[in-house]
Amino acid sequence: MTALPWYHKTTIYQIYPRSFYDSNSDGIGDLQGIIQKLDYIRELGFETIWISPFFSSPQADFGYDISDYTDIAPEYGTMSDALELIEEVHERGMKLVLDMVMNHTSEEHPWFKESRSSRDNPKADWYIWRDKPNNWQSMTGGSGWHYARERGQYFWSSFLPFQPDLNYRNPDVKRAMFDIVRFWLGRGVDGFRLDIFNVIYKDADFRDNPFSFKLVPTDEDPSSFFQQAKYTINQPESFAFAREFRKVCDEFGERLSIGEVNGGRKVLRKFLGDAANNGLTLVFDFEMLNLKFTADYFRDLIREMERHYPEPFMPVYVFSNHDKHRSMYRLGNDVRKAKLLAMFQLTVRGVPCMYYGEEIGMTDAKFPFAEAFDPIPHKFTFVPRFVFDLLGVLINRDEVRTPMQWNGTRNAGFSSAQKTWLPLHENYQTIHVEKQQAESNSLLNVVRALLKIRHQERCLQEGSLEILENLPKGVLGYARILEGEKILVLLNLDEQATEFPVGYSECIFKSSDRDDAKEKAIQLNGFGGMILRIKS
Ligand code: NOJ
Repeated sequence: MTALPWYHKTTIYQIYPRSFYDSNSDGIGDLQGIIQKLDYIRELGFETIWISPFFSSPQADFGYDISDYTDIAPEYGTMSDALELIEEVHERGMKLVLDMVMNHTSEEHPWFKESRSSRDNPKADWYIWRDKPNNWQSMTGGSGWHYARERGQYFWSSFLPFQPDLNYRNPDVKRAMFDIVRFWLGRGVDGFRLDIFNVIYKDADFRDNPFSFKLVPTDEDPSSFFQQAKYTINQPESFAFAREFRKVCDEFGERLSIGEVNGGRKVLRKFLGDAANNGLTLVFDFEMLNLKFTADYFRDLIREMERHYPEPFMPVYVFSNHDKHRSMYRLGNDVRKAKLLAMFQLTVRGVPCMYYGEEIGMTDAKFPFAEAFDPIPHKFTFVPRFVFDLLGVLINRDEVRTPMQWNGTRNAGFSSAQKTWLPLHENYQTIHVEKQQAESNSLLNVVRALLKIRHQERCLQEGSLEILENLPKGVLGYARILEGEKILVLLNLDEQATEFPVGYSECIFKSSDRDDAKEKAIQLNGFGGMILRIKS
């Protein structure tokens, strides 16, 4: 077996730069702030950092509306800070992944301003213009067509009206975007997280989307607002585009590309290319963000992931991000469950991706929609909040973007400004890094210990996976196997303690002091877990 490329055995930590660490006391996180906290991430044990966009932007969608891809938003720093960041990350032996929003720009981008100015300017065809809208709905609801007076035409926005979609059927657009990609690769970045990659191409004939009974999208089926997204997402050209993108990355060696895509696992796999793994190197699989905390759920999840992402592919395990509920929301704020989830995420066959603050169990905040900075809730002020809560859908993304909780002092040690861009979560005095660093069995220290084990055990990075059968109900078990080496992971997802026979030679990790490993049997507390070595 050949060694895996680094991007298939790495561990990813996602930073939302606005909320990570504020180095200049303006209440907003910044690049120098990230640099100051790199040792924290390295000591925690993550190897790759993905940073949400920090390019020039009017910040109408907090950086996912870019107005200059090769410059830095002043509130985050300068180009020299970005270059310093790349260097500092590399000096610590880590990798840096940028967030590339290729589908759309900001309406403030000079390309769009020019394109909008007339029907015959040099960039007239850089965006998607039509005389009349068809029935296509945007991903955020309502028609995605918006009228521009200057041209007397409508432009298409997959997401929000101020984020016009680029026209990738125009080769100049593709060339310009690939040049930007090369610009950053040339400056040493190790790869990209690719924003809504699966909507980059739309139907060339603008055929109307068919009717659907679905109002709310799911990750399995993105149909929504009574429409199947048949002609607006996952077009064949987007799969081909993934392979082209990969070629550009390959010009610079082994670089990571991770797609934000949705629409069912069979479709997601197509973004990874064919059997030769010549498309994106990884894709997110967001269905698991709606996890159910049962052994059956995780067993099925592993089976699905192993079926869809066998070698030479690699699944990604992700349980939260800057758009969705934090994982504590699904875990009923139970730290025991969070530790078990970390044990699962960091030992299963796949690349784990953890959102900042998850390592200390940060929880969702609750803010009134009307006061949201996030533009999405303003579209839905007519819907009472309890409807979204019943559906388990996060509408106000501010609630999962509160500042990182570093310590129990004012502003949780995030900033010394009078006012932070978002208020701190009210629980910051009880949930914070400093406290958990001092507690040996804290969630933070469990994550750190697991990452250390993962580093030491090549079997956990590269080994194949076998699900263990005939375990007590409520217990999830799997073996990671590499060249005669075998590591067992046993997780009791039930509140009841349990005992069962297992042969093993060494206990590598246990979630609590009371979980007991005897010669031929193990005892697991309710929500207890163990990692065992078997010598063959
Ligand atoms: C997905 C990003 O994760 C989200 O934060 C953003 O608002 C949209 N794409 C639009 O770029």
